[in-house]
Amino acid sequence: MRLIETLDYLDTTVFVRVDFNVIVRDDGSVTDDTRIRAALPTLRYLLDVGARALVLASHRGRPKGYDPTLTLAPVARRLSALLESSVSVLPFDLDEARRMVTAAEVGSVFLLENTRFYPGEESNDPALARDFAALAGLFVEDAFGSVHRAHASTEGIAHVLPSAAGLLVQCEVRALEQVLERPERPFTAVLGGAKVSDKAGVIQNLLPKVDRLLIGGAMANTFLLAQGMEVGKSLVEPERVELAARLLRGDAGEKLVLPVDVVVADSLSSPDVAVVPVGAIPSSGAIYDIGPESARLFSLEIARARTVVWNGPVGVFERDAFARGTFALAEAVARCTGYTVVGGGESITALGRSGLAARVDHVSTGGGASMEFLEGRELPGLVVLGYSHA
Ligand code: 3PG
Repeated sequence: MRLIETLDYLDTTVFVRVDFNVIVRDDGSVTDDTRIRAALPTLRYLLDVGARALVLASHRGRPKGYDPTLTLAPVARRLSALLESSVSVLPFDLDEARRMVTAAEVGSVFLLENTRFYPGEESNDPALARDFAALAGLFVEDAFGSVHRAHASTEGIAHVLPSAAGLLVQCEVRALEQVLERPERPFTAVLGGAKVSDKAGVIQNLLPKVDRLLIGGAMANTFLLAQGMEVGKSLVEPERVELAARLLRGDAGEKLVLPVDVVVADSLSSPDVAVVPVGAIPSSGAIYDIGPESARLFSLEIARARTVVWNGPVGVFERDAFARGTFALAEAVARCTGYTVVGGGESITALGRSGLAARVDHVSTGGGASMEFLEGRELPGLVVLGYSHA
């Protein structure tokens, strides 16, 4: 992979793709600025080595064309406070934007409007990639959260300008590579979330590499069903039962660890919540969290591991009644003395709420991107920089 240090930035304007896909409150404040902070080392590096100006670009949300509610103006304000220098949002018209960038003082930082406002961004239109490229002389890819997208600002532009990976992308790739290629053992993966279908690729790629794969969340229900258990009204994916059964029966099946007890209720809002062993789930109940015995079992596996990767909550942690399992996991991962990596928005939120994020070795800024990396897929935003898993 071509690294940021390999290009000469002196007196050159740099187009930097960042991932500022953050949530903004009604009052214009950013709820969680982790992704903005994560880009600072690359931005400071480029300014320190004499870049003429920086043109930052990011998407926010999934607008279909121009949508003023998804402007990047609030992000520019937050970035400006963090960088302690002014950050101007460029006009939507790219010719006008180019004139403004060309006339700018040395060291200026600009933010392009939401890249998804531009027709051609998501279809990776080469004409749009050229228009973006015309704003600068070099391209730095630092949007790790978006490298799984082949868009004009993440992939197309790298065919037009000399390009390199920023410091965040390098740090993310190094952390995930360490997990995939050089894990200290025992290596334990913890996967939660709703659907086997979302994680099937990750399970299949990780299972031969790990010593234990702990499965929680509604995804575990499909595995319990495949073991012939009654799961009541729990969320399941009937079309994935066969895959779950195959994984359980397969050579690596004994590495899979499923919950031994669960928290059930008639509905998410029901005040009657019970902990039951997995063999005794009532037909009227639905599973909303792993039980305390499972949390203990999972935590023990995590405590003895030398490498841990965690993605996805193991219960409906937004509800206090079903949050204990996920918070127990967050605590176990944070206390693990081995190398720990957490990815995925919800696991990071749970970790943040437990106040223990600082104790994790690597918190990935990429949800979908980190999952696709762990699946072993080639990510277009990395491939174009010369990176391959092979
Ligand atoms: C994310 O939030 O995972 C990234 O910013 C990618 O967003 P997307 O799924 O809308 O492409």
